[in-house]
Amino acid sequence: MSTVKKTKSTAKKPAVKKPAVKKAAAAAPVAAQVTASDNGHGGAEGSGVRRRDFIHIATVSFAGVGAAAVAMPLVSQMSASADVLALASIEVDVAAIQPGQAIKTSWRKQPVFIRNLTPAEVEEASKVDVGSLRDPQTLADRTKPGKENWLITLGVCTHLGCVPLGAAAGEVKGEYGGYFCPCHGSHYDTAARIRKGPAPTNLVVPEFAFISDTVVKIG
Ligand code: FES
Repeated sequence: MSTVKKTKSTAKKPAVKKPAVKKAAAAAPVAAQVTASDNGHGGAEGSGVRRRDFIHIATVSFAGVGAAAVAMPLVSQMSASADVLALASIEVDVAAIQPGQAIKTSWRKQPVFIRNLTPAEVEEASKVDVGSLRDPQTLADRTKPGKENWLITLGVCTHLGCVPLGAAAGEVKGEYGGYFCPCHGSHYDTAARIRKGPAPTNLVVPEFAFISDTVVKIG
């Protein structure tokens, strides 16, 4: 049975702010006050000056709220990025994965597919005319020398990020025998290359290396 060893624990994902809601709530009363001032007391010069001052102040205040609303998610993203980068690599013993089988694991909070291709699947992937592919890559480009049967990819569709089917037993593998993303109908072949549907590129191959004959380190 394959085992997954995480060298560090995953960190808690930071809360995501919703700036649009906050921004809309702040903008509404500002717009309403400016309109009331223009329509109700437009005669006196002094009132006109005060009105202009108010519009100026209101605009600055609005800009301030907008900048704060934009800055908060930026800070969150920067912190998420540092957090994600700090996560460790994983080591997976793939000895128990038989030809034709795949497992799902996770790395840096993303699903990862580890697949042991059958000789027929290796042949199927190798005979494809690479020039005809949307994202031209050979199977050798996506695997390690001497271990072309071990296909390791992120389980994240490159269209909009759904998790494709095909790694678990009994799941639909799509028209090209690899993975199928039912969200919008992307089909990947036995090298996890995009062959049909809206996904622009192949499933991503993460950085990985075999540190023994059966243990692979991802990351
Ligand atoms: S997210 Fe996979 S096809 Fe759209």
